[in-house]
Amino acid sequence: MSTKTKDSFENKSRFGFGTLAIHAGETPDAETGAVAPVIVRSKTFAQKRFGKESEYQYSRGKNPTRDKLIEKLEALEGGGTATVFGSGLAAEAAFFLTLSPGDHVLLCQEVYGGTFRLLDGFLSRFGITYDFADFSAEESIWKGIKPNTKYLFVETPTNPSLHIIDLALVAKVSKKACIPFVVDATFSPPCTTKAFEYGAETVIHSLSKYIAGHNDILGGAVITKNTKLAERINFLHRTLGAVLSPDECYRVLQGVKTLELRWKRVSETALTVAQFLKKQKVITKVFYPGLLSHAQHSIAKKQHQNGFGGVVSFELREHSFKKLKKFVDTVRAHSPIIYGESLASPETILAYPPLMSHKSLPKNVRESLGITDGFFRLSVGFEDVKDILEGLRKGLAVLN
Ligand SMILES: Cc1ncc(COP(=O)(O)O)c(C=O)c1O
Repeated sequence: MSTKTKDSFENKSRFGFGTLAIHAGETPDAETGAVAPVIVRSKTFAQKRFGKESEYQYSRGKNPTRDKLIEKLEALEGGGTATVFGSGLAAEAAFFLTLSPGDHVLLCQEVYGGTFRLLDGFLSRFGITYDFADFSAEESIWKGIKPNTKYLFVETPTNPSLHIIDLALVAKVSKKACIPFVVDATFSPPCTTKAFEYGAETVIHSLSKYIAGHNDILGGAVITKNTKLAERINFLHRTLGAVLSPDECYRVLQGVKTLELRWKRVSETALTVAQFLKKQKVITKVFYPGLLSHAQHSIAKKQHQNGFGGVVSFELREHSFKKLKKFVDTVRAHSPIIYGESLASPETILAYPPLMSHKSLPKNVRESLGITDGFFRLSVGFEDVKDILEGLRKGLAVLN
């Protein structure tokens, strides 16, 4: 939580997203005129007077570089109070730890594997329970709600199948049921969707993905409109200590300046790649919200500005491990595509969710979600699209 400093960017609300991404939370340094944000690495801050706390004391609690980032994230999301953490999962953990034993959370069917692991393998030990519901149908959301349900928790687009959760529908149920809804917006940063505009109470981001965007940091944020919840999360931030270092805050501050530009570029490339994949006989399914054939394309069109993002998932007809290995090796040998975890980087990354992000899900649950052994997720980077297509073309050819 930042106390707005005299550096605050005045009248933020009248500026567009691109302007806020550059200027919110930042002004040239008062002493030197430095335009890039100054990194304040000091752990300890000298106190001006005995018996009176200065604004900054110890960097775990509060740090000037982190405050700039907090202010920028609040401006970009369109309000709320932000708290930033050492990773997206640390942000999620702090959020869920505001619950009490006996509380229940209703989640959309497909959540990031780490979210599942957090709830199933850790928070369940403290009496916090959860269930999944199909959030595409109003009745099934209602069916999943229990008297002790404290939050509706959704991710959109979902990782890795890129289902779109209709935030207007979730908002409708949330309002009627008087249960706040929370969006893990890692796959829909605020340059494309602003969950607060749909009535979300809280937005969670893995900053490690689109927001920072350069494959060089881990970070997370919880941004909430609920001031009591914000206080609780800030308390947990200080208490658990999973803070984001000033250097990492700097990288996010710089990275997010190009968020909208990067989003547009990868959205364009991803659409081209998705259209190419759609034509391949060895591919059984292509998941991309920008395709007309995507089941929730019309919702995606309403919910997303500036394109549909850089992630395209697909299912290969082939499920044999040996052949899949040959596919991956060939893609790597003929293109700059990296085989690895994660997404939203300058580099195009081919991931295999069954052994990576969704390894924590039991195989039957994974397969019921359509994440079969032939399932791949491609996060396109900023390379030339022809070079990405060439690698895929060569890789897919070995499966013919
Ligand atoms: C949707 C989603 N939420 C949360 C996380 C966790 O973020 P982090 O890796 O920064 O801990 C991820 C990571 O991939 C993710 O995809």
